Amino acid sequence: MLDIMNEKRKDIFSKCLEFNEARHVQSLGLYPYFRTIEATLGNQVVCGGRRKIMIGSNNYLGLAQDERVIEAAQAAIRKYGSGCTGSRFLNGNIRLHEQLEEELADFLQREAVLLFSTGFFANEGALATLLEEGDFILCDRENHASIIDGCRMSRAKTVPFAHNSAEALRRRLGRLPEASGKLLIVDGVFSMSGDISNLPELHKVAKEFGARLYVDEAHSLGVLGPNGEGTAGHFNMTNEVDLVMGTFSKSLGSMGGFVAGPRYVIEYLKHKARCFIFTASLAPAVVGGVLKSLQLMREEPERKDRLWKNTHKMHEGFKRIGFNIGTTQTPIVPLLVGSEMKAFLFSQKLFDAGVFTTPAVYPAVRYGHSIVRTSYMATHTDEELDYVLETCERVGKELEIFSDAAYTGDIKRSKNVGYDFSVPNEEGPETLRAASGEPARSGSVLCPPISGEHYQNI
Ligand SMILES: Cc1ncc(COP(=O)(O)O)c(C=O)c1O
Repeated sequence: MLDIMNEKRKDIFSKCLEFNEARHVQSLGLYPYFRTIEATLGNQVVCGGRRKIMIGSNNYLGLAQDERVIEAAQAAIRKYGSGCTGSRFLNGNIRLHEQLEEELADFLQREAVLLFSTGFFANEGALATLLEEGDFILCDRENHASIIDGCRMSRAKTVPFAHNSAEALRRRLGRLPEASGKLLIVDGVFSMSGDISNLPELHKVAKEFGARLYVDEAHSLGVLGPNGEGTAGHFNMTNEVDLVMGTFSKSLGSMGGFVAGPRYVIEYLKHKARCFIFTASLAPAVVGGVLKSLQLMREEPERKDRLWKNTHKMHEGFKRIGFNIGTTQTPIVPLLVGSEMKAFLFSQKLFDAGVFTTPAVYPAVRYGHSIVRTSYMATHTDEELDYVLETCERVGKELEIFSDAAYTGDIKRSKNVGYDFSVPNEEGPETLRAASGEPARSGSVLCPPISGEHYQNI
C-alpha cells in the first residue's frame, strides 16, 4: 500500500480526493448526469418509475427502437455470437463488417469505408494516423472533443480558427509554411449549437492553400442532404470533401463509427491505425442492426421529412416563446441559459415535469454560455412536442430564462464567488448563491478543458 502520509511524495490520487464539484451539485439535488433509464418506450423513457419524453438523444430518425432493426440485431447475434472476441485484423472480421462497409461506400458515393468501434476512435484513428510531424491541422474552435483528442494524438500542430469563419481560416493558413501538409477539419453539424458548417466558403480557402478537407458527419448523417448523406451532400460537395467520418450512435441508432474516402487512404488506415488494429471489432448485433437501419434510412425518406417538420415546429415554438436558440439550423436546439447552475436547475425542473433534456456546460460549450440542449426525432408526436413547449415555457418563465442576462448569455463575474446567479425563485437565490461559492473555475463537473499548449498559436 502506498504511503500517502509521506508529504514529500506526490500521490496521483490526491486530485480525486479533492474533486467535489459533482458531489456538491448532487447535494443540491441538481445533478443532471448519469440518470438511470429503467426502460425505453419509443420516444419516452422510464426513470424512477415515471415516464419522461426524451428530447436529449441523438436518435434522430427513431431507428434505435424500430422492431425490424431489433430483429436484425437478434439474427446477427444468433449467427455469429455475442462478440467477435478480437480485432478485425486477426480473428474478428465477419462478413457483416464488410457488407456494412460496402453499403456505406455505395450510399456515400465513396470508394471505400473503414469501420471503427466508436465514432471517437474513427476521428482519433484517422487524425493520429494520417498527420505527421511538420503537418498542420486547421481545426474549427467548436469541433467535437474526439477531433481535438485526435489532433493531440497526431504529431501535427493544431491551428484553431474562429468558428465557421472563412476569414479566420485564411489568416491562419496564410501564416503556415507553403510546402507543409495541411488538413482542414470541421464538424458538418456542430453538436452543441446545431449550426451547419460553412463548407462552401471554407473549402474555397482550403483549396487555395492546398489543404485536404475532412468532415465529421456525426450529426448530419440521416439529417442533411437529399438522401441523408450529410453536409457534403447538402451542399452538393461530395467530390470536394476528401474524407468523411460518421457515427452509428446517432441517426443509425446504435454505436460505432467509420471513415470514408479514397481506397488508397482507407487501405493505409486499415493497416496503420492503432485504434482500429489493437481493439476488438464491432459486435455482430451492432453491425446487423446498423445494416438494417441504413437500409431503412434509404428506403423510408419520409422519416427525414418528419424529422424536419418536427424541427421547424420546435424552432418556431421556442422562438415564439422567447428562448434564445442561437444559430441552430438543425434538430439540435440549444436553449441558452448562461450560468451553469441555472442550466442544471432548468434541466432538473424539466425532468421533474416529465421532459428529459441534457444541460451542457463549460468546457462542452463556451464559458458562461451554458445551455440546455434539446434534440428532436422523426417519431416525436405533435402531442409530445406541444407538451415540451408548454413545459419549457412554464419553467422558463419561472426561472426567468428570458431575462436579459440569460438571453444574451452575458453573465456577470463577481470577484469572490465566481458567478452571480440571480434566480428570483424560492429555491433559487439562496441555493444557487451557496453553490456559487463552490467550485473555482479551474474545475467543472465535467472533464477539464484541453490545455492550450499543443495548439500552435499563430
Ligand atoms: C461531432 C461528433 N463527432 C464524433 C462523435 C463521437 O461519436 P461516438 O459517440 O460514435 O463515439 C460525436 C459524439 O458525440 C460527435 O458529436
